[in-house]
Amino acid sequence: MTSLNTRRNFIINTGKAGAGLWVGSTLFSSCSVLNKASSNKLITGFQQQPLPYSYTALNEAIDGTTMEIHYSKHAAGYAINLQDAAKNEGVDMNKPLEDVLGRISKYSIKMRNNAGGHYNHELFWKTMTPNGAEKPSGKLSTAIDENFGSFDAFKTQYSDAGKNRFGSGWAWLIINKDKKLQIGSTPNQDNPLMDVAEIKGFPLMGLDVWEHAYYLRYQNKRADYITNWWKVINWNFIQDRYQVAL
Ligand SMILES: [Fe+2]
Repeated sequence: MTSLNTRRNFIINTGKAGAGLWVGSTLFSSCSVLNKASSNKLITGFQQQPLPYSYTALNEAIDGTTMEIHYSKHAAGYAINLQDAAKNEGVDMNKPLEDVLGRISKYSIKMRNNAGGHYNHELFWKTMTPNGAEKPSGKLSTAIDENFGSFDAFKTQYSDAGKNRFGSGWAWLIINKDKKLQIGSTPNQDNPLMDVAEIKGFPLMGLDVWEHAYYLRYQNKRADYITNWWKVINWNFIQDRYQVAL
């Protein structure tokens, strides 16, 4: 599906073209027809989706054993615990997960950790591909150059966000409320859709810098993991996400 068609379908399904996507709770909770958009790239459910490639497909950057444990144990656990929290706290799992994330301060720590963990990993898998381009093109490429000076400068700033995140967490590229690209990071399983996050916006791509994402091959060398991670980025997916969210 082209970006244009994706955007058109999103508009049809929500009836809210350009209506502040990054303030998820406001948009999502007001659109009862949004459930029909469950296949849309911007909407996340409560179930873990199939990995879009084999465990060994990203071996250039991440080994198969790490991928298998990461997906089938860590990420699967977030989804299970999220569903458990949702049942206990009366959350309608037919609605988008983004609705919960935008109001996460109203829920338990268990919900915060697992809703974030599930959302972040669902995005993370799609952010990668074994056959990706080296860099983005089109509007996203132009926006990166305008915001950060060059693609290389963007890569350096984004990599630094991951390297410098103390402990466990995520590095992000987001569209902020001014529709500008912004780089930042969040601790633990928080993300920029959460009302408690220091950096708020709509996430285009996220980098998992928890040790479970890289420890088997890279041990303590997070920087080496990040360097190789750039080889498996799915720029088509990220560009689509950018176009739809604009
Ligand atoms: Fe992870």
